[in-house]
Amino acid sequence: MYGQIRFERNPQGKTKPGIHDDLGFGRHFTDHMFVLDYEDGQGWHDPRIIPYGPLSYDPAAMIFHYGQAVFEGLKAFRTDSNEIQIFRPDQNAKRLNRSSERLNMPAIDEEFIVNAILELVRVDADWVPSKQGASLYIRPFVIATEAGLGVRPSSRYSFVVIMSPVGAYYEEGLQPVKILVESHYARAVQGGTGGAKAAGNYAASLKAQVLAKEHDCAQVLWLDAIDKKSLEEVGSMNVFFKIGGEVVTPSLSGSILEGITRKSIIHLLNDWGIPVTERKISIDEIVHAYENGTLEEAFGTGTAAVVSPIGSLLWQGTPMVINEGQIGELVHRLYDTITGIQYGRIADKHGWMVTC
Ligand code: COI
Repeated sequence: MYGQIRFERNPQGKTKPGIHDDLGFGRHFTDHMFVLDYEDGQGWHDPRIIPYGPLSYDPAAMIFHYGQAVFEGLKAFRTDSNEIQIFRPDQNAKRLNRSSERLNMPAIDEEFIVNAILELVRVDADWVPSKQGASLYIRPFVIATEAGLGVRPSSRYSFVVIMSPVGAYYEEGLQPVKILVESHYARAVQGGTGGAKAAGNYAASLKAQVLAKEHDCAQVLWLDAIDKKSLEEVGSMNVFFKIGGEVVTPSLSGSILEGITRKSIIHLLNDWGIPVTERKISIDEIVHAYENGTLEEAFGTGTAAVVSPIGSLLWQGTPMVINEGQIGELVHRLYDTITGIQYGRIADKHGWMVTC
């Protein structure tokens, strides 16, 4: 199983984006990628770091038809002392396997996943940007590759890791965004795949995202699929509210993704002695808190943006403006602390960073 990672250097490395180039998100890709194959009976085999380029699969490969695909997202940072470190890769490896389990896909040894990522980052270390706020986004994914149209789990898979230098999510700093509370479409249901980072969850979210834009909103706030009452996620992020001094976030009900940033934020709030509760939160409670003036802050959390302040919520045609549409104190403190740890400016007392 597994074996040594074979390395094939890309003979014609691409031109790297310059320090003044707008990196955007997921627009440029590094020189190499990692690939590992699986076949029933043989297990995971042939690990290799090879030149980044097109992958070739049979048109009948199951990924194209039944969407058996899961992915992850994590980042590598260049510190002020020119070291490269990755934020909590062990957590991504664990979650990748949890997602795979839900889609009936084979697990990969978690230590092997982390080591493969570290190896790949070392090979393309020059691609880790040094620009303030920029990082190297790492995208591991697993896809079903067996050719066949029968609806059943594939007997073959590929685990691939690609990497992209990305800019600060908000070039001008944190920007509060307008969010549409979505009352028609649902992202996930109890017993479904919402708790997994399954590609299909993201496909299912696109229609509502486009409609939100028509209302001049950046994203949607998802409600539960049955009663359309309990809050789930905001766009592709977990969501937090500060109500009357207490921080609340929806509990992991099975339809909500277990965010690594979410987990880290709960940890920090506990360290700081700020009360934080994971529980069911209804849209009625948010409306009530807004009306009685106790809705202090709202924000999304995720790998891409770290934290994203919510400036207003559009609910049944009426906007609820939060904190006068300004960035809250708590969002600021969380953003500064997490990015401080990631860039090595704040001591990593939890041991979250892994040096390459
Ligand atoms: C994240 O920020 O954690 C995400 O999942 C966003 C990604 C799908 C681009």
